[in-house]
Amino acid sequence: PVEIFPTAKSGSQRVAAEIAALIRQKEQSGAMCVLGLATGSSPISLYAELVRLHHEEGLSFKNVITFNLDEYYPIDREAYQSYYSFMHRHLFAHIDIKPENVHIFNGELPKEQIKQHCVEYEQMIADAGGIDLQILGIGNNGHIGFNEPGASIHSASRMVVLDNNTRSANARDFQNISRVPRLAITMGIATIMEARRIILMAWGNKAAIVARAVEGNVTEQVPASILQQHNNCVFVIDENAATELT
Ligand code: F6R
Repeated sequence: PVEIFPTAKSGSQRVAAEIAALIRQKEQSGAMCVLGLATGSSPISLYAELVRLHHEEGLSFKNVITFNLDEYYPIDREAYQSYYSFMHRHLFAHIDIKPENVHIFNGELPKEQIKQHCVEYEQMIADAGGIDLQILGIGNNGHIGFNEPGASIHSASRMVVLDNNTRSANARDFQNISRVPRLAITMGIATIMEARRIILMAWGNKAAIVARAVEGNVTEQVPASILQQHNNCVFVIDENAATELT
């Protein structure tokens, strides 16, 4: 299903409200709440709203475990552009989540350790009981996480090569495109599909790819189209991103 909101802010409030309700429901039953998180421009207003709920409405993240979708490779954790920095800047520095409950791929490891790191990451998700709710954005080429067109529906966490399309979209955070890493570590399509609930957010000029993902054929050439096969997935989008839906 698709839910259309007038603005990114109102859509983000709806997503934040669902996350807050889930955290509180888990808290009442003494359980942890396992969230899969994204970076990029799409979730910025979501994180702002979660921070507001923490400060103004007493929402605690003490029972929350997070797994981020992806990270550049290689990248220094402390670099402004790392997804580690992004998550702390927009969310983790402002809430009461326990540092040991935060998981982000480590873009600093030597290449020969990445395979093992990915196996361990998948194992940590499993040990946490699986992802209750996964937040996604969508790339202009249909990528989810850094699963670029052609990624297998069976893919697990792994090192991937970024499309030039993705590198140029993300060049906004770097001095120029040549500085954007060529590689990344990402959860796989299968990892994402195992989440019990998925919310994909898209705002602004994403109308063409949103239409292909929602109404087009299910194909590995449009990774987000595979979400049509998930039984509990919603696209929360704004009016601009909805203009090419029929
Ligand atoms: C980020 C991620 C990516 C982004 C996508 C859209 O962790 O996994 O798939 O969600 O590239 O990026 P924005 O939101 O910047 O348009």
